[in-house]
This record gives sequence, C-alpha cells and structure tokens, in this order.
Amino acid sequence: MNAPPDTAQHDHPALFSEIGRMLDDGLIIANAGGEIQSANTAAVRFLGEGLVGAQLEAVFPMQETADFIQSRGTERTLSFIPDSSVEMEFKVRIRRMEGGQIMVLVLDMTLQRNLEKVRRDFVANVSHELRSPLTSLAGFIETILMNEIRDWPTQQRFLRIMEEESGRMSRLIDDLLSLSRVEVDEHIIPDATVPLMEVVRAVIASLETRASKNNMRIVLDDRHPPGAPRLVMNGKADEINEVFHNLIENAVKYGYADTDVIISVSQPQDGHVVIGVANTGEQIASRHLNRLTERFYRVDKARSRQIGGTGLGLAIVKHIVNRHRGTMDISSSPQGITRFVVRLPVVAAPASGDWHGDLTDDHGGETSDEVTG
Ligand SMILES: Nc1ncnc2c1ncn2[C@@H]1O[C@H](COP(=O)(O)OP(=O)(O)OP(=O)(O)O)[C@@H](O)[C@H]1O
Ligand SMILES: [Mg+2]
Repeated sequence: MNAPPDTAQHDHPALFSEIGRMLDDGLIIANAGGEIQSANTAAVRFLGEGLVGAQLEAVFPMQETADFIQSRGTERTLSFIPDSSVEMEFKVRIRRMEGGQIMVLVLDMTLQRNLEKVRRDFVANVSHELRSPLTSLAGFIETILMNEIRDWPTQQRFLRIMEEESGRMSRLIDDLLSLSRVEVDEHIIPDATVPLMEVVRAVIASLETRASKNNMRIVLDDRHPPGAPRLVMNGKADEINEVFHNLIENAVKYGYADTDVIISVSQPQDGHVVIGVANTGEQIASRHLNRLTERFYRVDKARSRQIGGTGLGLAIVKHIVNRHRGTMDISSSPQGITRFVVRLPVVAAPASGDWHGDLTDDHGGETSDEVTG
C-alpha cells in the first residue's frame, strides 16, 4: 500500500518528528485509510515494534477504531488495554486532519489508574485491619484509667499486650506503604543491577538466628556451577531482598520445628533462574493456594496474627516479582512440603566485583560459594 502524498506530515515531516520526540505520549500518524506512516519513540515503547505499515485497527483492535476509519470520523477518544502480562491502560485520542490523515495521541493512564486503585484499597484495608488492635488498645486504656486494676503484675501484663498491639499496627502500616509503593511502580522495569546470590545469602544470614530458635536450619542448595558467571538481574536490590525475606521468613514461621528450609537455585536457562523456597509443615489445601497472594489472605487468620503476620507479605512479593517480569508458583504436597518457586530473568553478568552495594558489604564474603552467617 502506498501512502497518499501531500499530507500534513508530508508538508512538515521534520516538525512532526521533532514534536514526536519531545512528547512523553505516543504520537502516531496514519493515512486516510488507517495505515500507520510514522510513530514516535513513546508509541513504540507502549505498543511494540513494527507499527509503521500496520493498520490502526490491528494496533487498537476495537470496533470504534474501525468505525472511525470507515465513517471518516473527525475526532474520538477511546480507552485501550493491551493484552500483555503487566496491565497497562491507555487513553487514545484520534483526530482527522484536513488532508484526511489521522493523528493518534496515546496517553499512558496506567499510573493514574493504579494510584486510584491503591487509594481505594488502602482506605478499605487499613480501616478494617487497624480496627481490632485499636479496639483492644482502647479497652485496656479504659480499664487502666478506671483504676480497676491496682496490682502491678496485672497492669504489666496489660501493658505488654498493648505494646504487642501497637507493634502490630506499626508493622501493618509499614507493610501497607511498602505494598502501595510497589503497586504504583509495577509497570516500570527497574534498571539497576542486583547480584542475586549475594541478596539470597544475606537474607539467609539474617534469618538464621530466628530459625535456630525452632531448631530449624536454612540450607542453600546452589546448582549453579562454581566458577560460572555470577547471577545478576535488572532490578532493585532492596525489593529482591524483600521477596526472599518474606518467602524464607514464611518458611521459618510456618514450618515445623526440627525441619530444614531448603533454598534451591537452578542453573540459568533461557535467560531465567529458578529459585525455590521449601519447608515442611502443615499442607496448604489447594483451595487456598491461588489466594495466598491476595492482600490480607491468611489460611488460619488467628494463628498468623498470633505469630505476628499482617497477611501482606505475599501480596508484596507478588507485585515485586511481576514488576521484575518474573513469575511465582506455589505448591503444597500431602507430605506437608510447601514450595514457593520464583522464576526471574537474569542478564549477562558483569565482571566479578563490578557491583558495589550495601548487601555485599554487609555480607563480607562476596565471592564465597558457602553460606555464611
Ligand atoms: N511456607 C508456608 N507454609 C504454610 N503456609 C504459608 C506459608 N507461607 C505463607 N503461608 C500462608 O499464607 C498466608 C499469607 O502469607 P503472607 O506472607 O502474605 O502473610 P503473613 O505471613 O501472615 O504476614 P506477613 O508476611 O505480612 O508478616 C499466611 O498467613 C499463611 O497462612
Ligand atoms: Mg509472611
């Protein structure tokens, strides 16, 4: 198909491409029949390569697009959600110019939509989850104020419960903030580099004391051959740390005493590494498995609360894994082996020692293949 000559873009090609380059929004120019003639960098980032030459109806496959082109409409605004794994949402403004050409402006609405959703959920969840510790605090304060408890040991017991309840409230707020932060940024691919094994080892080291209180061991089963390039991924080190901290902490919390928590690391394949966290405990019934990553979903609410859980850990994990273009699978066998398997993209490793961050500094033994700590 040949583009009709003498169009607005034809008149001012340099001006159009300059404007396109300055815009954060996508700018697409198509001929009167809807065949795309040019697309700026933002449009390619939003919609993928191969736009030039494609039909507008194929790129925005909604009835309205076809109607607009057929009826030679003058202006229309559509909303568009592409079929991709990370949900994005666009507002698409289509306008016909004098020469018949079609100009399309693609506005990224994802951030705004996520912000709205986070705000709505935040209010609902916070009010629900803060109410019970707050009610309990208010009850104890009232009792003490009424001077009904005169003996010091009982007062102390009450104060200790109050301390626990206020601790729960502050943990809940930390987790909620952490969750809303990763949710808002979910569609942005982080571009710093993370040395995966250093992060995993640092997390293991930080949880070993806690595990040993239950006579549990955290065992690292690293199938990554010695001398192979380091496992490095694009991402945010503190977020990847949060993923493994949550998973390994859960394994320690919900695993039986005197058992091992096994962290397995595969050899990278197809640009991905698979890291599993497995513990032995009570089997999680299959009806719960799909729902564990929902906010505030707990298999046994009372027990999780008692252990100090807010039910937000796995929701945070899921968002961080999505943001890093990874996946997570959960399984639980009748023998009580529960496994969380995270698959993350890795990149070609820079020469050893290129990464200077707190984690390796904290950890000390950066090049060691042993679990330290
Ligand atoms: N390894 C595991 N074994 C058994 N059950 C688990 C395991 N990990 C998570 N669960 C179940 O999934 C629920 C949700 O886990 P999640 O980490 O989101 O919340 P939490 O541990 O209760 O609280 P938080 O992580 O916010 O402190 C837990 O309450 C527990 O019922
Ligand atoms: Mg947890």
